[in-house]
Amino acid sequence: MAQESSQETSRGGRLLNTFADRPVQDHGSGWSNLWDAGESNLWDRGKASPALVDLVEGAGELFDPFTIQGTKKNVLVPGCGRGYDVVMLALHGFNAYGLEISDTAVKAAEAYAASQMSHPSAYHFGNEQSRSSSPGTVTFLKGDFFSPTWDFKGEPNGIRKFDMAYDYTFLCAIDPSQRRNWAKSMGQIIKPGGLLICLEFPLYKDPKLPGPPWGLNGVHWNLLVEGKDGEIRGENIGDDGKEMNSSQTDDGDFRRISYMKPTRSYEQGRGTDMLSMYIRK
Ligand SMILES: C[S@@+](CC[C@H](N)C(=O)[O-])C[C@H]1O[C@@H](n2cnc3c(N)ncnc32)[C@H](O)[C@@H]1O
Repeated sequence: MAQESSQETSRGGRLLNTFADRPVQDHGSGWSNLWDAGESNLWDRGKASPALVDLVEGAGELFDPFTIQGTKKNVLVPGCGRGYDVVMLALHGFNAYGLEISDTAVKAAEAYAASQMSHPSAYHFGNEQSRSSSPGTVTFLKGDFFSPTWDFKGEPNGIRKFDMAYDYTFLCAIDPSQRRNWAKSMGQIIKPGGLLICLEFPLYKDPKLPGPPWGLNGVHWNLLVEGKDGEIRGENIGDDGKEMNSSQTDDGDFRRISYMKPTRSYEQGRGTDMLSMYIRK
């Protein structure tokens, strides 16, 4: 494993200390406190995901922002932080929603989106031609991903189903005991046939070490495809992200259609980030 810089170690220590002795039911307030104390720099990457930009611009029909009925596709980014990926998806034509447990994060994301939708930074595009002539909408929702009572601004009663969802550093931020709930909630909010995209991080970190961020090597497959609890030890994980010698099942809500190393990703991934795509069964 590569050596951590002292800055990264002290940042990691701050995150670990925030959650070390906090009961799991209070983790949401732990995240809100970090936002309120102006400490989002502990995880904020400062730009949209280069790996997601390349995927959206390169994967053809899968990322057509229109449904076959001709309406715009709705995309959700749970635990969206400042909303970089939400804005990027809207600039590529999707109606994009970001969900955040922190009021402060929602306000920061709304301010960010207000400026970026009219004057987007270059990092939103691999190819400037990919900018949609008909951008989608951006909506930030305040809510707990594990509770189905988000405010859908005029769409009451029940969970809205999305055409697509994206996860980066949300699954690795939550306590391992909540992983099954994460997979269950993803299964509830994505339409049958809809897509779940995960930029898997951190894969270089031993899953037995404390988080956040929690090491996720092998976790996505275990949760989403095998329908297990995701609390694996991270040993014997093959290059395909699957646990070797496990009694494989396909009891999960998803089928994996792609698992690839992105050409570009954040440097924090240390060259190990993997991009996976799942279809809701
Ligand atoms: C590590 S940060 C990642 C943020 C963002 N994905 C990014 O790449 O910048 C995790 C985020 O999840 C949010 N969060 C934590 N628990 C949540 C929950 N139960 N529901 C919604 N958001 C949550 C936190 O407030 C935080 O902004």
